[in-house]
Parts: sequence; C-alpha cells; structure tokens
Amino acid sequence: MIKSTVSRRGFFGGVAAALATVGLGPKSFLFAQGRRRVTEAEYDGFAKLSSNENPYGPSDAVMEAMNYGFKYANRYGYPDGDILQKIADHHGVETDNVLLGAGSGEILKIVGATFLQIRKKVVGVEPSYGSVYRHASGVKADSIKLALLPDYRQDIPAMIDATQKNYRDVGFVYMCNPNNPTGVIVPKREIDQLLDAIPEDVPVLMDEAYHHFVTDPQYASAVPHVLAGRQVIVARTFSKISGMAAIRLGYAIAPKNLIDQMRPMGTGSISAIAKWGGATALGDTAEQEEVKRITLELRGKTTAALTQLGFDCIPSETNFFMVHLGREVRPVIDEFRKRNVLVGRPFPPMLQHLRVSIGTAEEMERFMTAWKEIFPNGGPKASG
Ligand SMILES: Cc1ncc(COP(=O)(O)O)c(C=O)c1O
Repeated sequence: MIKSTVSRRGFFGGVAAALATVGLGPKSFLFAQGRRRVTEAEYDGFAKLSSNENPYGPSDAVMEAMNYGFKYANRYGYPDGDILQKIADHHGVETDNVLLGAGSGEILKIVGATFLQIRKKVVGVEPSYGSVYRHASGVKADSIKLALLPDYRQDIPAMIDATQKNYRDVGFVYMCNPNNPTGVIVPKREIDQLLDAIPEDVPVLMDEAYHHFVTDPQYASAVPHVLAGRQVIVARTFSKISGMAAIRLGYAIAPKNLIDQMRPMGTGSISAIAKWGGATALGDTAEQEEVKRITLELRGKTTAALTQLGFDCIPSETNFFMVHLGREVRPVIDEFRKRNVLVGRPFPPMLQHLRVSIGTAEEMERFMTAWKEIFPNGGPKASG
C-alpha cells in the first residue's frame, strides 16, 4: 500500500545511515543527470516528472525480497526466486517463451540486435519510444518512421502498407502500446487488423511498458497472440508499476523460435537482487492497484486544472500525459528546470507539446505552482 511509503522512507533512511558509516555522505556525490552534473542534494530536491518513473518505489514486500537476494551476492548460478517460472505462470506460457533483460530497454536492444542484422529496417511511428530507432541507426540499420494521425493514434493502415511494401527489408515492426510519449493506446481490434494484414513471418515487437495503467476496455495485451503462435514479442518492465527502474529488470514473452534467436544477444547482466525483487513484485497486485489508483487520480486532477487554464491535454492511458503549450517546448522545459521541476524532453515533431510524468501529490503541486508562474496569462484557449 502507498501508505507504506512511510516505512520505505524509513528503509531509505537506513541506506543513508549505512552509507554514512562507510564514509559515503549523501552530499558527497556529483554525477551526470542528463547533460548536466548535479549533486545528490540537488537531485533529491527535484520534482522528477521527466522519465515516467514510479515515485513511490518498490513495495515493502519487494524490498524484503531484494534484501534476501543479497544472500547470493557472491555467487553465480544461485537460487533466483524462480523468476522465470513465475513470469511464465503469470502469463500462462512456458519458460522457453521468456527471456529476461536488464530492464525492458535491454529487451528492445536484443530484438534490434537479432532482427536488424544485414541492414534491415524497423517500421514504427514517430514520436514513440526512440530508443528502438536510435539502436537501429547504431547498428547501421534503418527506420521507417510513420507520422501519427491527427488525433495522435498510431496509423495502422500506414504500418501495414510500409511493412508490405518493404517486406524483404523489414526486420520487425515496433509498436509501443500505450505509446510513449502520447499515452494513447492501440485498441485490440487494430492489433488484430495489423497482424492479419502483414506477412506472418515478420516479428512484431509490442512494447507494453505502461500496460498496467490502462483502463480503456478496448485495450488488450498482445500476449494471447504469442500463445496463438504469432511472431509477436511482448516486452514488459518492472520499472514502472513496480517502481524498480534503477534495479533493472524486464522481460520478453515470445514464441520459442524467436526467444531462441534472441537469447545469444542477451548479456545475462541481471542481478540476484533484481531477480528476487521481480519474483515478488509479480504477485504484488494490491500494491499495483494502489499505485495505479493514486496515479490516475493525480493525472485526472492535473489535466483538469490545465484544461481549466485553457490548455488541451491529450487523453492518456498511462502514468504521464502530454499538454499542448501553443509555443515551443524547449524554453518551457528550461523554465521548469529553473524551478527545480524536471519535465519531459522535446519529442519531435510534437515540439509544442510537453510530456509530464505523474509524480507524488506534492510534486504535482510544485508542478502546478511553476506552471502558473511560467504561463501567467493562461493557455491558447484561455478566455479573457
Ligand atoms: C515505452 C518504453 N519502453 C521501454 C522503456 C525502458 O524501460 P526499462 O528499461 O527501465 O524497462 C521505457 C522507459 O521509459 C519506455 O518508456
């Protein structure tokens, strides 16, 4: 429960105290945060609404499990909380259908490394989670980036068309659902439409990082397509709903033939701590419900306040949303930063939209206070 953030604070206090005893005072660190160097004190003082993190951190049960994982800190091939089996059971698949990654970011890279060899192309929309396209250019592959529709939905007919026309060159199709940065879903019937229309042997990577926040009944996970034998790879993460971003754990669910191809590209860099934490987090549904409830409540409150001030927000199904500023986003990001509020980076070509992650109630208040200073005259739709 989120009320347990109090005890989690206690735990973090414990970590701080432990660091002090080994001579690592919390103020002594300088590290890179984005492009700038900041002290730990500065970092801790930010309202962090830039990276779609879970501000509450792991649940007490997950913290306990991670502590337990230290028992094997000195081992290879140790008991790992049966994480693979637990993920397989959670989705009704076999362990052969599961591949672990150090975050789902690693899964996306493994998919790129596996299916974009020999200058293949990835088909997807822009803006979306850009790491896939950056990785493609890093391995000298290409991206076919399609525009969003005017209402910010992903253009399924255009994806089908691009995949069919480039069939021999397409390594995989990437779909982030719900999409980052817009927060907009692709409904189940459109996923079916895509899979029915593209050649059966083209893998489709479904990035479901924000799956747990969706309430729209038209949305469905793509895992049943894996069970049905389609060449679909579902990527999931413990970074968002489970609050474990810095612990680094994610996974892929896919048919065995695809997992077998992907496995050699994995690094095996997942710690015992992450595995024990993840094995517990999977069953932590009450905690997840609570994180979802409070996140959606704060999202509703914040977007209603912005709408009231004359700004349009894109209806979101995630723990972040986009708001239309009516002016360039870059200077606005800088203004927030001056007020110690970190907000999302620019997402070309949506350069008049700002992405805002949902933080704690206190962080959202700081965001609204800063907003009213930065936009004293209201938004493009303000009356008077
Ligand atoms: C859509 C999407 N996919 C994947 C990731 C990678 O997350 P992680 O590597 O922490 O699992 C993120 C992180 O923000 C994301 O937004």
